[in-house]
Amino acid sequence: MKTTLSVIKADIGSIGGHLRPSTALMEAVRAYLESKKGKLVVDYRLSNTGDDIAILFSHREGVGSSAIHELAWDAFVAGTAKAKSEGLYGAGQDLLKDSFSGNIKGLGPAVAEMEFEERENEPFIFFAADKTDPGAYNLPLYLAFTDPMHCSGLILSPKMSQGFRFVIMDVEYTEKDRYIELNAPEEIYDIAALLRDNERFVVSQIFSRDSGEQAVAASTTRLHNIAGKYIGKDDPVLLCRVQGSFPAAGEILSPYNIGHYVAGFMRGSHTGPLMPVKNGCGISFFDGPPIVTATAFCVQDGILTEPVDCFDHPYWDHVRGEVSRKATELRRQGFSGAAMLPYSELEYGGIVEKMKKLDGKFKT
Ligand code: F6R
Ligand code: MG
Ligand code: MG
Repeated sequence: MKTTLSVIKADIGSIGGHLRPSTALMEAVRAYLESKKGKLVVDYRLSNTGDDIAILFSHREGVGSSAIHELAWDAFVAGTAKAKSEGLYGAGQDLLKDSFSGNIKGLGPAVAEMEFEERENEPFIFFAADKTDPGAYNLPLYLAFTDPMHCSGLILSPKMSQGFRFVIMDVEYTEKDRYIELNAPEEIYDIAALLRDNERFVVSQIFSRDSGEQAVAASTTRLHNIAGKYIGKDDPVLLCRVQGSFPAAGEILSPYNIGHYVAGFMRGSHTGPLMPVKNGCGISFFDGPPIVTATAFCVQDGILTEPVDCFDHPYWDHVRGEVSRKATELRRQGFSGAAMLPYSELEYGGIVEKMKKLDGKFKT
């Protein structure tokens, strides 16, 4: 029997600005999910990364199941009621529509899902990032699946030397899914040429060319493209099966030691380094820096093991220090040049008005 993993995440309110959800909000979501347990869902885990909460479901309903999406929506609605009663900031902010309609994609929350026949052992890692957008995973995925500098399995494992097939989404095209499929290693220059543009081209899936099996499923929605105006960064989630014909857990984690610069940070309008943090970490300096959590599980017959917090290890303390240094360095130049994003990515429309006004004052 096939297992489906679905992770659905939303920001439905937090304490002290966009920092961290309250314990009571988390408990309200959990209580709702507990009340529905056993009917639809085989197992689930609830977590937070910055101001976002994520529900990881294991079930039998397949990808895009409206029953699973509705369950997540209803759990977020229950959490929003608690957030409102506590006076949390931005209560219900990612629930953009008044009611659920078939598929949660496009209603605000981010979704990453995949269905597979469980291997004899089925380890996977669930990533969640805050104060950034889906393109934040482009570089780490490229490096983990194509570059032996991070993934030694590409040299050492016969299963992996076949390479991987990337499915890359053009997120500016909103009428339908517009995507391209490219094979590594033959087409890595084409893959790199697309993935350098994190705001337009986003990895949505990766498949092993040895087994044909899916390794990666990522959320790719960019709400400002769908809504036509800025509604905050999309704080992406990602599922990645590991080991065997896929990169090992440590190879998938390896590129996160770079602390590469991503879009997001304060008001979703700046550039900042992505910091790998422990589960439950909140947000602080300059509404950032952008953060990512990684949680490993095994799943058997749909039942999830206890979680392992991948970035809760002394090695990553050192990386966090380096990333803080990079964040401070870029923040020293404030609004200038590379520190801020181009107009199309700025979170607030106010600057457009400002520029219009100033334009009228120019003389030739
Ligand atoms: C939200 C975020 C924050 C906010 C900032 C201002 O995800 O990135 O940096 O943009 O705190 O928030 P508002 O406009 O809600 O006062
Ligand atoms: Mg937020
Ligand atoms: Mg967020």
